[in-house]
Amino acid sequence: MTDAHDYKDAPVVAIDGPAGAGKSTVARAVAKRLGLIYADTGKLYRALALKAADVGISVDDKTGIEALCGETDIGYRYIDGESRVFLDGADVTDKLAASEKVGELASALSALAEVRTALLEVQRSLARPPGLVMEGRDIGTVVFPDATVKFYLDASVEERAGRRLKDLLAKGENVTFEEVAEQLRARDERDRNRKVAPLRRADDAVYVDTTDMSFDEVVNCLVGHVKRGLGNAEDDETGH
Ligand code: DC
Repeated sequence: MTDAHDYKDAPVVAIDGPAGAGKSTVARAVAKRLGLIYADTGKLYRALALKAADVGISVDDKTGIEALCGETDIGYRYIDGESRVFLDGADVTDKLAASEKVGELASALSALAEVRTALLEVQRSLARPPGLVMEGRDIGTVVFPDATVKFYLDASVEERAGRRLKDLLAKGENVTFEEVAEQLRARDERDRNRKVAPLRRADDAVYVDTTDMSFDEVVNCLVGHVKRGLGNAEDDETGH
């Protein structure tokens, strides 16, 4: 599909990186600044995890998971400038981000080849005009290896844990810094070491360490790179 895709009419910005690196908020802001479609691919894996948990299928039950993939309808719908995730016809977008438990299960499910294959075309189908900013773990390496511009967003585990802890405490969850840091380490380890489409930086991805950067600095940095990649750097008022 990627060979035939016209990246001139529908550029693709791929953003990968570990959990808690700020990919979602950054990707959403970059898409808004550039007038492109935004898509969070973690939510697709989370939607499947939600269903697996609901129907009580364990990650170890490969046959059950394979059957579940076949009978589950997961996709995006573009509503009010945002790509929302639908699970069997229901909008589940707002249910997916909050839970660390769903994130954990999504990470375990995402190591299975059948799961990744089932979700690949859903992701690729979003590449249409005016273009797409998509974030995840394998966007620049597997989903869109020919993406127009690729980024790998990173931050130290302490910084990522600190940011996540702040979000969780604001939501009233009762967790400690060490618990959050440990969960992130475990998730990184699994996402980086799985056999199929592991998290890794694409050779041609721009590496951005956000540890000591403000949110605006990160967004400006990415927008500047994308504008240069698209050949209209003169429009970039940020100077990055
Ligand atoms: O980005 P997130 O935390 O919502 O993602 C949840 C899990 O889904 C993540 O730990 C690994 C998996 N995932 C993936 O394997 N590939 C993607 N492109 C996005 C997410």
